[in-house]
Amino acid sequence: MQRTLIKDTINQINKTVLLKGWVSVRRDHGKLIFLDLRDRTGLIQLVINPKVSEEAQTTANEIRSEFVIEIEGTVKEREAKQINPEMETGKVEVEVTKLNIISRAKAMPFDINSDTRSVSEEVRLKYRYLDLRNDRMKKNLKLRHKIIQFIRNYLTDMDFTEVQTPILTKSTPEGARDYLVPSRIYPGKFFALPQSPQQYKQLLMVAGLEKYFQIAPCFRDEDARADRSPGEFYQLDLEMSFIEQEDILQLIEKMYTELVKTVAPEKHISITPWPRISHKESKEKYDNDKPDLRKDKNDPNELAFCWILDFPLFTEQTEDDFFHGSGNSKWAPSHHMFTAPKAEDLALLDKDPGKVRGLQHDLVLNGVEIGGGSIRIHDPKVQEKIFDLIGFSKEQKQNFAHMLGAFEYGVPPHGGIAPGIDRFVRILAGEDKIAEVIAFPLSGSVRDPMMGSPSEVSDKQLKELHIKIDLPKTKEKK
Ligand code: AMO
Repeated sequence: MQRTLIKDTINQINKTVLLKGWVSVRRDHGKLIFLDLRDRTGLIQLVINPKVSEEAQTTANEIRSEFVIEIEGTVKEREAKQINPEMETGKVEVEVTKLNIISRAKAMPFDINSDTRSVSEEVRLKYRYLDLRNDRMKKNLKLRHKIIQFIRNYLTDMDFTEVQTPILTKSTPEGARDYLVPSRIYPGKFFALPQSPQQYKQLLMVAGLEKYFQIAPCFRDEDARADRSPGEFYQLDLEMSFIEQEDILQLIEKMYTELVKTVAPEKHISITPWPRISHKESKEKYDNDKPDLRKDKNDPNELAFCWILDFPLFTEQTEDDFFHGSGNSKWAPSHHMFTAPKAEDLALLDKDPGKVRGLQHDLVLNGVEIGGGSIRIHDPKVQEKIFDLIGFSKEQKQNFAHMLGAFEYGVPPHGGIAPGIDRFVRILAGEDKIAEVIAFPLSGSVRDPMMGSPSEVSDKQLKELHIKIDLPKTKEKK
């Protein structure tokens, strides 16, 4: 007999079905035992009546919440007063004829059917596979899937090619610390995990792809902060050739408008076309560069997008943003060092770098920066000038020799953007925390309590890599 999914039972009245899933709740009513059975499609009430099967009743007595079971039974219409309007399958129930326990479950470490946001992060992440049994969490993962699926289809229809770029790569200067991976074959040398595929996507433009995207994992060794997923997060990384900034803004505005209509029709975009605000105006008017333009901040379905444009190309380097710059100059790139200056400001590069505006665009939604990008420099001379202005030494420049080199073989004008996936899903899901829309996030203290990572590795592994651990005294192992 084939398994029936719970959502399909309502079309099987008076038929015999085979159901498989988890027991959500067991209720004993004298001789009758009721079980709520759950599979990925829903919940249904099972009735175990000793008059129908004594054997099933004996087995049901052993059953606890979250046991995995399979049952055979007859789908029965409920009497009018027994109908449960809260349940999608509330008009029916299944009278069990055969019941088999597939696997048993210990008592849950927390109530997985309640709002698990009130459970401690440590416990939730340690038992993430149980936390994800919760309806809300499943809905969030499904929403994430739908969003990514929509983006893939939309861009594929627009003639974009999805390309996977390397995870083992070389440090990309995006402004954060790199995660390093030691090379066994080249002792003392390291790969870095990409902070974003920035250089690869530009090289794909040199390669003639013209329209590239990728749902790209990005790795940044940063502390957790509000709306920042520590360790890793995902971007919709996108790049195009022979285009202007306007083309990027229009593509994204159209795609996100369609996306919202398709995957979250209950939401409404309150201001169209999306306002375009200069960085200067945003600072003056809202005192920040990610204004929340919602008309009613109590409306959970309002989405207010806007673009922030005309960013200064440079900011003053401080010790804090050491990773942005070289440490040798007053100036650091405000986004990254591949952003093109506005044509009309080119002459200011020599005279007054602080006044140069870049062709950068930030995408803001409800007061959150959900994306950033720019038109890139494609003239190796301008690129070198930017390197000089941010104080790159010869050696530091050498790290980008491949970019400057590639630009000597015929480079199309190009630009792109990288909207964050996690932040956008969080907002559409109506969640406060980014971790609610990530299947297995790291904790706020940048650990995975379930896997126990990061973890020590064996002496043999370290030896192979020629690595010695030199811990500060207080943290040394006994
Ligand atoms: P940027 O560093 O601005 O640009 O990142 C783009 C977008 O990625 C998201 N994001 C994050 N989301 C969750 N957790 C994080 N820790 C995190 N960090 C960034 C944000 C942000 O707007 N290569 C350039 C893009 C380009 O120029 O095309 C880049 O990575 O939504």
